[in-house]
Amino acid sequence: MADRKIIAVVGATGAQGSGLVRAIQGDPSGGFVARALTRNVNSDKAKELAKLGAEVVTADVDDEASLERAFRGAHGAYCVTFYWEHFSPDRERAQAAAMAKAAKRTAVSHAIWSTLEDTRRWVPVDDDRMPTLLGSYKVPHFDSKGESDRYFTEAGVPTTFLLTSFYWENFIYFGMGPERGPDGKLAITLPMGDRKLPGIATEDIGRCAYGIFRKGAEYAGKTLGIAGGQLTGAEMADAFTRALGQEVRYNDVPPDVYRGFGFPGAEDLGNMFQFKRDFADYFCGARSVDFSRALNPALQSFEVWLERNKARIPLE
Ligand SMILES: NC(=O)c1ccc[n+]([C@@H]2O[C@H](COP(=O)([O-])OP(=O)(O)OC[C@H]3O[C@@H](n4cnc5c(N)ncnc54)[C@H](OP(=O)(O)O)[C@@H]3O)[C@@H](O)[C@H]2O)c1
Repeated sequence: MADRKIIAVVGATGAQGSGLVRAIQGDPSGGFVARALTRNVNSDKAKELAKLGAEVVTADVDDEASLERAFRGAHGAYCVTFYWEHFSPDRERAQAAAMAKAAKRTAVSHAIWSTLEDTRRWVPVDDDRMPTLLGSYKVPHFDSKGESDRYFTEAGVPTTFLLTSFYWENFIYFGMGPERGPDGKLAITLPMGDRKLPGIATEDIGRCAYGIFRKGAEYAGKTLGIAGGQLTGAEMADAFTRALGQEVRYNDVPPDVYRGFGFPGAEDLGNMFQFKRDFADYFCGARSVDFSRALNPALQSFEVWLERNKARIPLE
């Protein structure tokens, strides 16, 4: 163990981080060992990671000193923020800056920053194709991540900027699964028109990240996008129909309607889907499935993910 390189994993009990910890610990001869960062080392999830042989330590992304303690001695750091816990771009930027500074101070050799596009490069704030949110954002939870890339660059931390994709688990946990309409038929609702949506099983994000750490310096300074599949709403509905054995339709709504759904974050997500729809060639092009499979040979397609997870999809 002493000669294994430590990867400090922020969000280790969460979707992205736990996949990375499991990928590292699942490959004992791979030369790496995971250090799992959590706010509560006594939680069930934290204890599960300890059972896998990961070192489990306390850290909070709002507390730079705790990050510095947790990154010390690590070869690599997986850095991710938790926008939906606070809905604040300012706080997300501060957390990213704290991770970049901690990585710099502890001389981490390779960071992965789980980022997304600053959509204002495509749709400036004064462009009225979609509403401006929170004063100066188009897709707040994307824009603040993209804006934060510079913290890592300016600090001089060797960083891979990882563009993730829509979690297919959103169909389980995020209220996006098939719902019955007034006609009693199941449908998934997305404002994507006929454009393809890159998506991924969350555990595959961690596995791809592990592939990046294994490659090392070759990917430092690079922006890499990952996806397990790229499907239209209609293609996803067809896959649901086959997996569930009952008809699931694709309910294509205009982004304006989606923005008006009223749940927390609906406007942000409405703008996000509109961005993905209107710039689909760029967005899909930046997230190669073949490249993701090269990083992670176990990469799941939507059909495979669905087959493994269909029992967990709540059907109303
Ligand atoms: N949903 C999607 O489709 C999607 C797609 C791409 C990107 N994203 C982005 O993914 C990010 C979230 O990553 P995730 O899904 O892996 O998170 P997650 O599953 O919600 O996990 C969050 C974990 O992070 C830890 N955490 C929360 N606040 C923390 C803090 N202040 N300090 C340290 N740890 C903290 C928690 O662990 P403890 O309680 O153990 O501390 C929790 O287990 C969001 O920013 C989101 O925008 C989401």
